[in-house]
Amino acid sequence: MNILVTGGAGFIGSHVVRRLVKNYANYKIYNLDTLTYAGNLENLHDIEDAKNYTFLKGNIVDESYINEIFDTYRFEGVIHLAAESHVDRSITDPLAFVKTNIIGTVNLLNAARNLWKDDFSNKRFYHVSTDEVYGSLGAEGLFLETTAYDPNSPYSASKASSDHFVRAYGETYGLPYVVTNCSNNYGPNHFPEKLIPLFINNIIENKPLPVYGDGKYTRDWLFVEDHARAIDLVFHKGRNHETYNIGGFNEWQNIDLVKLLCKQMDEKLSRPDGTSEKLITYVKDRPGHDLRYAIDASKINKELGWKPSVTFEQGLEKTIDWYLDNEEWLNNVTSGDYQTYYGKMYN
Ligand code: NAD
Ligand code: TYD
Repeated sequence: MNILVTGGAGFIGSHVVRRLVKNYANYKIYNLDTLTYAGNLENLHDIEDAKNYTFLKGNIVDESYINEIFDTYRFEGVIHLAAESHVDRSITDPLAFVKTNIIGTVNLLNAARNLWKDDFSNKRFYHVSTDEVYGSLGAEGLFLETTAYDPNSPYSASKASSDHFVRAYGETYGLPYVVTNCSNNYGPNHFPEKLIPLFINNIIENKPLPVYGDGKYTRDWLFVEDHARAIDLVFHKGRNHETYNIGGFNEWQNIDLVKLLCKQMDEKLSRPDGTSEKLITYVKDRPGHDLRYAIDASKINKELGWKPSVTFEQGLEKTIDWYLDNEEWLNNVTSGDYQTYYGKMYN
């Protein structure tokens, strides 16, 4: 099977690519990535010479390039992760999100449809999406697969739009697809602009920890390798034209999560207990900040037997260990443009 993974040099994509390359020697895995600030081939250093792996540098917005690679490599499956993924960046530059997340997705759908239109059997377009399309929960309730879409940020609006296009291609042209909507991921190789890796990096550097608003916002956190395992399972065993929610059954208010992170970091860095907590600084809130996300992942659990395999405390410890052991990775990604980004967002 020839499988195209898009965005495979990014955070989640790199874990998906590694898993597929290692577990399926009989597949050919093509990783298409344009290598934005978030894409990094160092993430795949350990498998870059594998026989069943090929890297393709290209942009999903480039229609003729996309058509060309579908024509050349005759993909039978697509696992689509490439996206602009950071809410704060979507607030400053929404159009970049429209281009990659919506137009890029439609380019891939068109190319898949054109290649597969005479025979949809044993083909699959897997669209990786987010729980943020469902909007914000109050204190109660969980997102179900049937929850109405209600996106609030330019990021979630662009992902919601791409989800709708995928479903529309299923209904209109019969394209075989699956969509998954997952909660917040954390783990190794996460670019230090999102909460957990940003705060790990700032603690290492003794910099302030910028908590937005009152810190009472709630997210449901999942270890990235558990997400990659779910993607593998849904790609192979999920039902066509279905959505599956994926989540950690693991809700944390930001401030409680940050305090746990500070405690674990103090232990790892042999600093006196309470040192990192002193870095917590409440800053101006994110506009349109969603109060709470929480996933009901019982469908994927009942149908496919998936559930998270690590507790949050274990996952967080593995994550911290990875960042402390990979100082060079962290230094490389935080040099150059990162400083400009950080200055613009936080100073
Ligand atoms: P990421 O930002 O770490 O990686 C995105 C990757 O896509 C990068 O390698 C980047 O270079 C590549 N890319 C961006 N624009 C591209 C383009 N135009 N053409 C080709 N490649 C391009 O993102 P992530 O956190 O790994 O998220 C991957 C997917 O999972 C996204 O679709 C995201 O919406 C979804 N998702 C993420 C989370 C999360 O917590 N990170 C949760 C649920 C769903
Ligand atoms: P983030 O990791 O950006 O993921 P998302 O917004 O997609 O859920 O943010 C997670 C939570 O942490 C969110 O409520 C915003 C908050 N946050 C901060 O308080 N400070 C920060 O510097 C960042 C990046 C996020």
